Amino acid sequence: MPILPIVQFPDPMLRRPCLPVEAVDAGLRDLARNMLDTMYAATGRGLAGPQVGVARRIFVMDCTWKEGTPAPLVCLNPELRDASDRLVTNTEGCLSIPGVPALVARPEWVVLRWSDLDGVTHEEKLDGFAAICAQHELDHLNGRLCIDLMDEAARRAASPALATLGAAA
Ligand code: NI
Repeated sequence: MPILPIVQFPDPMLRRPCLPVEAVDAGLRDLARNMLDTMYAATGRGLAGPQVGVARRIFVMDCTWKEGTPAPLVCLNPELRDASDRLVTNTEGCLSIPGVPALVARPEWVVLRWSDLDGVTHEEKLDGFAAICAQHELDHLNGRLCIDLMDEAARRAASPALATLGAAA
């Protein structure tokens, strides 16, 4: 399977709000498979459309494959239906922003609705790492990055590394 190039910060592609996926065809199935292969090859746990140059509302994730229990998920047109009032802070990485861990506070759990490649609608409460990962990937579809959510001190600490990425682009 082809491994796709991953769009790197500060490419403006990462800031484009994505359009809905209209139909599941062979091209979209190929895209989803290639996105999963690309994510695994890059040893990531999630990858969103814009990160491979596709401004459509699709992301893939697999939060448990590194622990030996792969659970690949393809989420089409995902939306948040509910979210915890309680925030938890975690360090997030992004394949498009290598070497810049971001300390981010997010709702502890979310209820996510999405369609799969068979046109089936799912609605699930996600918690733990799955909740973080889903929110991170959903943000990508709205042109939002984890570094946008850092507090002022974390942003200052990360700014030399971000400047280096910008200079390299
Ligand atoms: Ni990311």
